[in-house]
Amino acid sequence: MIERSFVMMKPDAVSRRLMGQILSRFEDKGLKIVAMKLRQIDEDLAKEHHGEHKEKPFFGGLVEYITSSPALTMVIEGDDAISVIRKMVGATNPKEADIGTIRGDFGMDTGRNIIHASDAPESAAREIALFFDEEEICDYSMSDNAWIY
Ligand code: PPS
Repeated sequence: MIERSFVMMKPDAVSRRLMGQILSRFEDKGLKIVAMKLRQIDEDLAKEHHGEHKEKPFFGGLVEYITSSPALTMVIEGDDAISVIRKMVGATNPKEADIGTIRGDFGMDTGRNIIHASDAPESAAREIALFFDEEEICDYSMSDNAWIY
C-alpha cells in the first residue's frame, strides 16, 4: 500500500553535514521525497510533535535538542513507506541499532539520535499535518519504472 511518512533529520544530522548521505539512502531505496523543508522548530511545535512523551524524564532535553538549530523535515512516499523507513532508521538507541541502519551507522547517543520517522499511519497523518500544508506536498511521477513508487 502506498503510504506517506513524516521524517525529520534532527539538528545533529544537519550540523554534522549528514543530510546528503541520509537523503541518498531514501532515494537509493526507491522511496519518493514529496515534500522537504529545512526549518528552525520552535518550542511550541516541538512540544506538540512529541506531546505523547511529555511525562517522560527526557522530554525537556528532547525539546531542547529539537529546537537547538534547524532540522530537515520531509514527507516521504512509497509502498509500505512507514515500516520500511522505520527499518532503515533503526532502534532508538544508536548504540543498539543494527549496523546498516541510519542510527546504527551514524550515531552513538540516544539524546542525539539523528532522525525521526513516523511509527504508524495515524502518527504519520498527524505529523505531516503538523509540519506541512497540503499544497506543500508534491504529487508527481518519478519515472516509467513500476517499482519506483
Ligand atoms: S518510549 O518511552 O518507549 O515511548 O520512548 P521511545 O519511543 O523510545 O522514544 C520516544 C521519543 O523520544 C526520544 N527519546 C529521547 N530523546 C532524548 N533523550 C533521551 N534519553 C530519549 N529517549 C527517547 C526518541 O528518540 C523518540 O523520539 P523520535 O523523534 O521519535 O525519535
